[in-house]
Amino acid sequence: MTIKQAYSSLSDYLHRQGVESPDFDAAQLVAAVTGVTKAKMPIEGTRPLTPLELERLTQLAKRRGERYPLQYLLGEWEFYGIPMAVGEGVLIPRADTETLVETGLTLLKGVSRPVVYDLCSGSGCIAAAIAKYRPDAIVYAVELSKEALPYLRKNTAAFPGIRVVEGDVLEIGSQLPPCHLLLSNPPYISDSEMQQLQSEVRYEPEMALRAENDGLYFYQQISSLYHSRLLEEGAMAFEVGYTQSAPVSQILRQAGMKEVFTCKDLNGIERVVVGKK
Ligand SMILES: C[S@@+](CC[C@H](N)C(=O)[O-])C[C@H]1O[C@@H](n2cnc3c(N)ncnc32)[C@H](O)[C@@H]1O
Repeated sequence: MTIKQAYSSLSDYLHRQGVESPDFDAAQLVAAVTGVTKAKMPIEGTRPLTPLELERLTQLAKRRGERYPLQYLLGEWEFYGIPMAVGEGVLIPRADTETLVETGLTLLKGVSRPVVYDLCSGSGCIAAAIAKYRPDAIVYAVELSKEALPYLRKNTAAFPGIRVVEGDVLEIGSQLPPCHLLLSNPPYISDSEMQQLQSEVRYEPEMALRAENDGLYFYQQISSLYHSRLLEEGAMAFEVGYTQSAPVSQILRQAGMKEVFTCKDLNGIERVVVGKK
């Protein structure tokens, strides 16, 4: 079987299994196994697969057909132009979260050598993106999960400004120096939404997804616990679920934030809520 034939039969198979983007996923898996990308397929795709490649691709196809996440199979996923190591135990970085990074970088304009928190850091994607574009920043990346921490350490090792902190964000605030900016994409899925998750998301850690109080628990806790950790004119910015911008805005006002506003993601959804002190 040639690489091209393997690509099209894998794409057909994933389509039949209900995978959302079968062509894309097939191309990614074929490239991971053979090194032949979709762009190179017309010429290099005429070569037959080696027996080892066929065996590996068959294994990956089976797993993807079971709706195991593509990103975990590849072991790496790009966020804000930075390759992030991912695997079971850590949340896969989402494109939506780039809105929080954009917002953070805008809020940091004009602040030199800022202190930034990335609370509930997971893979460290937010911390890494801030550190890449603001190498003068000191970023505290706080994470509790023992499964996520190895990914966080690996993904942030190349950024000297990042300090990985193992601990519970609900307890550790007083040990951190005051900050100019708090960023957080905390767990925010309510119990009822947990029942309706896409098949792939069920392989991601529940600890990264589920939150009490209709998904609002971490916003309530972090905003009140960390108000005093913000320097004068400091700000906190949270990623929120698509129904949460109004309640989270209200939570930030109740926590004493003076100016509260929202930012939309590329799909026009209010994805980030900002509170300025
Ligand atoms: C929605 S994920 C966000 C991960 C990453 N920041 C991102 O945007 O992809 C939430 C993260 O919070 C972590 N977490 C949950 N409860 C925590 C707590 N009490 N203290 C610190 N981290 C916590 C989870 O393990 C998970 O990595």
